Amino acid sequence: MRFLAVIGALAIVAGLACAVFFFGGFYSVAGTSEDPAAVTWALTKVRIASIERHANDKPPASFGDAAKVQDGAKAYASFGCANCHGAPGVKWLKYSEGLHPDPPDLKEVAGKLSPPQLFWVIKNGINMTGMPSFGLAGATDDEIWAIAAFVKKIPETSEADYKTWTAAVQPKQ
Ligand code: HEC
Repeated sequence: MRFLAVIGALAIVAGLACAVFFFGGFYSVAGTSEDPAAVTWALTKVRIASIERHANDKPPASFGDAAKVQDGAKAYASFGCANCHGAPGVKWLKYSEGLHPDPPDLKEVAGKLSPPQLFWVIKNGINMTGMPSFGLAGATDDEIWAIAAFVKKIPETSEADYKTWTAAVQPKQ
C-alpha cells in the first residue's frame, strides 16, 4: 500500500514538473534547436508508418503517361514545390534552409515512396512540419496524381525539359 502511495506521489510530482516545463515557457519552440537523436528517430518512424498505413488510393490508369508527367511538372512549378524542394536545374529558395525538419531532395525520395504514398503526402501534407497540404491549398486529385507522377520521374528529367515544360507557368495565387 505504502509503495503504491509513493508511486502515485511521484507520478503527481512528475506531472507538475512537466506542466511547469512546458506551460512555464522553459521548453524552446525555436526552429534552431536540434532535436535529440531519439526524437528524430521516433518522428521518422512515425512518419513512415503513418504514410504506409494511410496511403490507400489507387493511381489512375494514365499514371506515368508522358502527358501526365508534363502536367505534373507544370503543377509542381505553379504550386511552388520548387521553392522548398528545388527541381531539375532549379535551386530551392534560401528560406527553405531555415525549415526544421528540412525539405528533402525529391530526387532521393522518388524511389522510396510509391505512387499512392506520394499522392497521400502531397494531398495531406505532414503535420507540424513545413510540408503543406495541397488538398487544402486547392489542388484537385487529378493535379496531385500528375504531381506524384512527375516526382517519380524527377531523377530522369533533364534541366532542359523541365525548363521547357514550365516556361509559361504562373505561380498559383
Ligand atoms: C514550404 C516548404 C514546402 C513546400 C512548398 C513543399 N514542401 Fe514538401 N516537404 C517540406 C518539408 C519540410 C518536408 C519534410 C517533412 C518531414 O521531414 O517530416 C517535406 C516532405 C515532402 C515529401 C515527403 C518525403 C518523405 O520522405 O516522406 C514529399 C513527397 C514532398 N514533400 C513533396 C512536395 C511536393 C510535390 C510539393 C509541391 C506540391 C511540396 N512538397 C511542397 C516542405 C515543403
